[in-house]
Amino acid sequence: MSRKPFHLAWFISKGYGPKGWRNQWGGPNAANWVKPDLLVSLAQNLERAAFDYVMIEDSCNIPYTYKNSHETYLRYAVDSPKLDPSVLAPFMIQATSKIGIVTTLSTTEYNPFLLARLTNTLDHVSDGRSGWNLVTGSNDGGAQNFGHERQFPHDQRYDMADEYVEVVQKLWDSWEADAMVIDQEQEIFADPTKVHPVHFEGRYFRSRGPLSAPRSPQGHPVICQAGGSARGRTFAARWAETIIASAGSVAAMKAFRDDIRAQAAGFGRNPDHIKVLS
Ligand SMILES: Cc1cc2nc3c(=O)[nH]c(=O)nc-3n(C[C@H](O)[C@H](O)[C@H](O)COP(=O)(O)O)c2cc1C
Repeated sequence: MSRKPFHLAWFISKGYGPKGWRNQWGGPNAANWVKPDLLVSLAQNLERAAFDYVMIEDSCNIPYTYKNSHETYLRYAVDSPKLDPSVLAPFMIQATSKIGIVTTLSTTEYNPFLLARLTNTLDHVSDGRSGWNLVTGSNDGGAQNFGHERQFPHDQRYDMADEYVEVVQKLWDSWEADAMVIDQEQEIFADPTKVHPVHFEGRYFRSRGPLSAPRSPQGHPVICQAGGSARGRTFAARWAETIIASAGSVAAMKAFRDDIRAQAAGFGRNPDHIKVLS
């Protein structure tokens, strides 16, 4: 039997939220869901099982679709509540040493500079094991929490996200790799000639830069993406390093991967640098 290495990732559905609170094993400790311990233990065990990464799902609203009320969602803890995954991630990072920790952050909720700095910081503290599950938001309730009337239209969200990643990557790149000198004798902390403003002026976003933090171990924290639509795939093929595909059959998985690889080559990328997980 041939043994080929393969990749494994774990998707923490319902993010940093209550798990199994109605089950016997979860019941008595249900109130402890706000503590990171259970999910930290999960990350440790996934690492022991040689998983490549663990991805923490997130959304920023309490749904109210059913009966136009949050009643059912809160009563049964459906998709809510959720604590912030970027606070959970460092606990997981601290308790592990190899596994990648991927945090979900939305391009329609985070300002690009803040996101560039947050993901850069997570990459520093993890010694380069950090990833960003790049989502664009999907529902009006979430958008309204951030002051919008409704969510931006589907394809426009991806157009905005294209520009968003451009500015984030420029900010990640604004410090050269050897800019942080820390030379006590010459009294130089950082070499100012190796840190560059970005002066990004886009249609949707602007940022002066440079990032207020030095280049992180991976330079670009790994971008994970899960868009399945035609526009979502094109976006993923352009930017993602790992893609989670929900395909219903082996043939559909292959077709998805072939499509991503072809489109990535069209963007001048090496398709082998993209890991598609089904
Ligand atoms: C496995 C998986 C995980 C996802 N995780 C999140 C998430 O944590 N937060 C979120 O807002 N959307 C999440 N999504 C939704 C995707 O980011 C995307 O919006 C969705 O797949 C629809 O994309 P499309 O319109 O391009 O088909 C996830 C999707 C999949 C398949």
